[in-house]
Amino acid sequence: MKNRFLPFCSLALVISSVLAAPAALAADNDDGIVVYNAQHENLTKTWVDEFTKETGIKVTLRNGGDTELGNQLVQEGSVSPADVFLTENSPAMTLVDNAKLFAPLDADTLKQVPARFRPAHGRWIGIAARSTVFVYNPSKISHAQLPVSLMDLAKPEWKGRWAASPSGADFQAIVSAMLSLKGEKATLDWLKAMKTNFTPYKGNSTVMKAVNAGQIDGGVIYHYYYFVDQSKTGENSKNTQLHYFKHQDPGAFVSISGGGVLASSKHPKQAQAFIKWITGKTGQDMLRTNTAFEYAVGEHAASNEKLVPLDQLDAPAVEPSSLNSQKVTELMTEAGLL
Ligand SMILES: [Fe+2]
Repeated sequence: MKNRFLPFCSLALVISSVLAAPAALAADNDDGIVVYNAQHENLTKTWVDEFTKETGIKVTLRNGGDTELGNQLVQEGSVSPADVFLTENSPAMTLVDNAKLFAPLDADTLKQVPARFRPAHGRWIGIAARSTVFVYNPSKISHAQLPVSLMDLAKPEWKGRWAASPSGADFQAIVSAMLSLKGEKATLDWLKAMKTNFTPYKGNSTVMKAVNAGQIDGGVIYHYYYFVDQSKTGENSKNTQLHYFKHQDPGAFVSISGGGVLASSKHPKQAQAFIKWITGKTGQDMLRTNTAFEYAVGEHAASNEKLVPLDQLDAPAVEPSSLNSQKVTELMTEAGLL
């Protein structure tokens, strides 16, 4: 199915490069840029297709997970073929930034995203955001029984009643926010109680499916799994609802997906143009209209109208560059979760 469209797509790319290419950027860039992409493939693909159509700059995607691609960049160092790195969560951006592999982003690009959705140092930027939620099965948990805080899930009454995907970067980002907000001791205690109380699944979709099927009462995931499923058949979410913790609780953490340009990029202008484009008007507006259901983070950019508005989530303030994935892995290992 995919291959049938390839010749057409390449033809379209050629035509669009000829017709629409701003000469300065596309001319010296026959081979285009390489993006190490840990964001959802379909979201990045919608961005890339439109970006290439508008600018004539070709983009090659190498897809993988946050931690996998972050570690790969650190290993490759200055000889990496990557021009751009996109993630689902910010801890992988910090991993790469700590290895001093990012170039500063253009000031015009930084201006497009409010300060709370990007680190102050300006070496990467928020491209989208996702909210932590508690997905639950209302036939198992009444409204009155819902946890007030994510921290409550450590209590004995939650034993055997909730699920998560601890090996995933999504869940680990939530733990990194808890670590930043509550400190090391409270986080380790919570993780140890989690080990006793929770049931592990691989992947957030699997967690939601289990809740939907009544195998488990609730689970800690991100919001878009529910909305994406609802926009299709709803078969994996029809028996579930989302609980937003709000009140600046660690469970109300909004995780920032990041984008950055590698200092070793051989096409820095094109790479900077790509990050500017996805954080700009057209790129951010696609988050309102497409079916990724992630939040837009651009200045004055609206998110999909089906979502609870970002400013109503009452998320805790967390400096995205302070999230420490290495410490999280250590604590989760100590608690027996990894
Ligand atoms: Fe995810």
